[in-house]
Order: sequence, then structure tokens, then C-alpha cells
Amino acid sequence: MCGIVGYLGNDRAYPILIDALKKLEYRGYDSAGIAIWRNGKIEVARKKGKVDELREICASGFEGTMGLAHTRWATHGTPSERNAHPHRAGDVVVVHNGIVENYIELKEGLRKDGHKFLSDTDTEVIPHLITNHLNKGADFAEAVRLSLAEITGSYALGIIHEKDRMLIAAKKESPLVLGIGDGEFFVASDAPALIGRTNRFIFLEDNDIAVMKDGSLRLMDVEGNEVERKVHVLHWSGAMAEKGGYKHFMLKEIFEQPMAISDTLIGRVKEEQGEVEFEELKLPGLKRIKRIWMVACGTSYHACLIGKQMLEANLRIPVEVDIASEFRYRDPIMGRDEMLILVSQSGETADTIAAMKEGKRRGAYVLSVCNVLGSTLARDADGVIFTHAGPEIGVASTKAFTTQVSALYLLMLHMGRKLGLMGNEVVRARIADIKKIPHKLQTLLDGAGSIEELGRKYMGFKNFLYLGRGINFPIALEGALKLKEISYIHAEAYAAGEMKHGPIALIDENMPVVVVSPNDQTYKKTCSNVEEVAARRGNILLFKDTDAHEMAAKANVVFHVPAVPYDLQPIVHIVPLQLFAYHIANLLGTDVDQPRNLAKSVTVE
Ligand code: F6R
Repeated sequence: MCGIVGYLGNDRAYPILIDALKKLEYRGYDSAGIAIWRNGKIEVARKKGKVDELREICASGFEGTMGLAHTRWATHGTPSERNAHPHRAGDVVVVHNGIVENYIELKEGLRKDGHKFLSDTDTEVIPHLITNHLNKGADFAEAVRLSLAEITGSYALGIIHEKDRMLIAAKKESPLVLGIGDGEFFVASDAPALIGRTNRFIFLEDNDIAVMKDGSLRLMDVEGNEVERKVHVLHWSGAMAEKGGYKHFMLKEIFEQPMAISDTLIGRVKEEQGEVEFEELKLPGLKRIKRIWMVACGTSYHACLIGKQMLEANLRIPVEVDIASEFRYRDPIMGRDEMLILVSQSGETADTIAAMKEGKRRGAYVLSVCNVLGSTLARDADGVIFTHAGPEIGVASTKAFTTQVSALYLLMLHMGRKLGLMGNEVVRARIADIKKIPHKLQTLLDGAGSIEELGRKYMGFKNFLYLGRGINFPIALEGALKLKEISYIHAEAYAAGEMKHGPIALIDENMPVVVVSPNDQTYKKTCSNVEEVAARRGNILLFKDTDAHEMAAKANVVFHVPAVPYDLQPIVHIVPLQLFAYHIANLLGTDVDQPRNLAKSVTVE
């Protein structure tokens, strides 16, 4: 995983790099490092721990106008100062995100040539390889190119040389973006890290090498052929990457959901005509699509589970949902008349990208639902629907999830029209339904103060059970995931009807049971399940949308959620569960935005 950043320009590099590195910290935060070039010398500082700890040892500051920085999520070698990046060999200094798969063979060969290694990382072979080629007479850019040709695996690289004021960036299977300023260049693992510095970006493609020197940029591939890449202009403002008065990004992002959903609808829903169109999407002949697959990881996988229910019920096309890390290795039976929908906030999740490749190889039409412009899934899929959630910085996904569900709802309406299954009147009414969601969510959020009190009451419990049915079973899964990942409290989710087949044995007065129970077709069944929990003295937290919920009197806590049509229930029901997890974690004092062991985009297997 890891985040990398680089700068070459006329301003002081240190604050620019540290600022961008803080924004990339979601990608890993077990150690950090920085290298600054000044007058033919490179100074390096590395530290185990977070970027703030690195900042402390750099108190005197670095003065140069070119540099690199790195925040690490350990793969090869424990989190420690010696394994922290940048890594150096001779005059060459490198930061790397990815994995050099053949590093053991390369290391052996380099050792025979007299190279000495100071870390346990795979990365360290890269500056040594470059030095080797420099020693044989190659110039810096050529030495980098020849070295990359020897590497198998993945990389996003920033590379500098002590005797040459030149910044080189290279990419293969790990994300990397160039920011183009006025006579200055930036390199970063993602564009949001550079918000406020520039809004012009080049999204590098696999095997691209960018050579930046004296205000000019040269792009080539690993074979040495010149390549051209488009400059994209992003309209994200600096304020979007700030906390804006909230204690944590996660809380800010929970409260941004009404706006994020509105932004996901804008320009796509034509209420009067009863149409939904995606400007960026050209779907194939839909009548030939016999089956849809939905593949993703984590929270995005939960969005797929909801998508399945919406698409199957409304389009009557069979939908299979898979976890990306399972899908890629299970030899799926998939053919040309099928559609693969990949859902991802980052667009860079390694397993989801591998699933895309698998789907393409099998001839399916591949559609991605993504939040990050220029990301691999957005670029390489046959079609893309962007969720316009804006940058999501908290590691725990919130607004990305509700915009994914919103985008899948829009896709369902779009396909319903195209397939002739839904008339304008139906689509018009269903557009009106989703247009009301931002306002309903705002009302929910305005009245959600009591959830902090709930958090205080429940923060001491060690285990939680979450129950839901139908389209809200994924909400039980997602609510439990939110609690686990930020508060480190064990939580499990079950389809409510499944509880009696095992988990019911866990229930006693020390087991809080969170029940998602809107007044839908499964409501009566869930009531019976609540009854079963109550009979065993389980501690019931009921999230309901009907004033007359039969089980309210049996619950220890009742929280009212606005009533909305069935397909949209997940969007309103997840929000109080996000807040519940947030408040427990905040009260317990965990690192809410960067929970231990996690990284925001998982670019390794
Ligand atoms: C949980 C969370 C993760 C991500 C998962 C997929 O809060 O954020 O489970 O959903 O790593 O990431 P994307 O959506 O970027 O592919």
C-alpha cells in the first residue's frame, strides 16, 4: 500500500511534501520518511510511526526545492526506521509503493556485484539496480528505465539523484498521478493529496516513466518510446480535504452524505421526462445481458449486496455477488453475454482490479462504479459511473457507500428504461423518491445528537450482534464492519432469520443486539426474531421507521429512522449505525480516521 509524494519546483519542498503526505497517511502509517535535495546534496529523515512523528525530527526543516516523501504500510520487513522509505544507494534515492516480486533473485545478483543492503525491504533493490546501470555509463533516466525492465511486480516510484536536479516518476499496477503547476511538478499516489496545489493532473498508465527537469516534462514507456497523456482538470477545492471544524474526517464525511447524494444525482436524473442518463456511460445492447456479476471488497461489497437485490427485483436479471479476492481465484463461469459491475471508492483495490482483468479476459462487459477520477478501475473498465462523493479521507468508508448505493439505484432505473421494463411514469416517481433522500438524511442527522449518548451507554460491551433482513441485511453487515474497524469491538452480523441456527446461543444480557427493522415485507418476521432475543434477555437496540413498531416496548433502546421506499432504506438505515460506531470509537479514544492495521486503499493482495 503506502503513499508516495514528490515535488520539483521553485518553492520550499518540505512543507509541500509533509502536507501531501498527511493527506496520504490513510494509505499506511507505520513509518514515514522524507528526502530533500539541495545544492547537490540529499538529506534523508525516516521515522517509525506517523507523519507527525517524522515532522518532529525534522524540526530544523529542510530548505531544498526538490524532494520525495513516503508513508508506509509494511509488506516486506517490519515497521521500523531501517525499513522506512526513502531508500538510498549511492547517489540515488527512491520511494516506492508496490511489491518487487523478484527482489530475492535481484538482491542475490546485486550482492555478487558488491552491493550492500541496509533494510529488509524489497524496495531497496531499486536504487541499487539504478546505481548499477549508472556505473555502467547510462544517464539517470536511462538507468531508471533499464532497471524497471528488470523488475517484476508492481510499483509507483519517485526517484531523485544527488548530482542531477531531476525528478523521475514511474508506474506499474500501483496508482500514481502527476500534478502540473506553474513551472513546478508534483507526484502523488492520488490526486486529493495535491488538492490546493494544482488542479491539473496526468494519471500515469502502467509502464509510464515521467522525467521532470527545468520546468519540462518528458513521458516515455519502459521500452523508451515517447508517450502522450491527457491533462485532466479536477474541480475539487482545498476545503474538501480539510476537517472543516469536525473532530474527525469520518464525522465530517457522515454529515456530508446529503450533499454527496445530491451531487451523485445532479445531471443524471431528468425527473420530468422520467429518464436517468449517465453522460460518461455507453452500455452495450442490454437485451443480450443474461447475467450480472457484482464484485468488490469490504464496504463496497456490501453496496453490491444491496445492488443485487435492487437489480434482481426490478430487472429480473440474475445477479451474482462475489468478494473480489475470492472471485479472482475461483474460475468463475462467465461469458460474453454477461456484465461485470465492479464497485470501488478508490478504484485502486488490487483484488477488484484483478477481478476486472478476469472479467475482460472472459469477454464480459465491465462497468465500474468509482469515486476517484483517473483511477485504474475508472480508466480501464469498458464503462464507468462516478459516485460524486468528493474526497473520502477517513479510512472507514461512509459517504462513498451511500453514494454507491445511490448510483446503483440510478443504474437500475437507467437499465429499467432501456430494457422497456419501466415506463416514464414509474421512473419519474422513483426519481422523486431518491431526490427526497438528501433532505430526509439531513433531518436524521440534525436529530442524531442522542446517538452519542447511546455510544456512551454501550462503549463498555465487548461483543455486538447486528441483525437485518432482505435489502437491510447488508446494512447489518456494514454496521458491524463500521464498529469493528474503528472501535476494535467484536461485532458480527446475521440475516435475522438465520440467528436461530446458531448465534442465538450467544445471547444473554451482555450481548447487545442491533436490529435494523424498517416496516417492509419482512417486518413481521423480524418482530419474531426480536421476540426471540428478548426472551433470552438480549440487550436490544432497535432501529425502526414505524411509530407503531410492535417490538419497541421490548427494546432497551429505540431509534427512529425516516420511512422511505424499500430500495432506498439502506441509505437511511446505515447513517445512525455509522454514527453509533463513530461515537463509541471516539469515546474509547481510538484513532478514528486511521484505525490500526488498516489502510484506505488496499493495493496489495
Ligand atoms: C471499510 C472500508 C473498506 C473498503 C474496501 C474496498 O470501511 O473502507 O472495507 O470498502 O477496502 O475499498 P474500495 O472501495 O476503495 O475498493
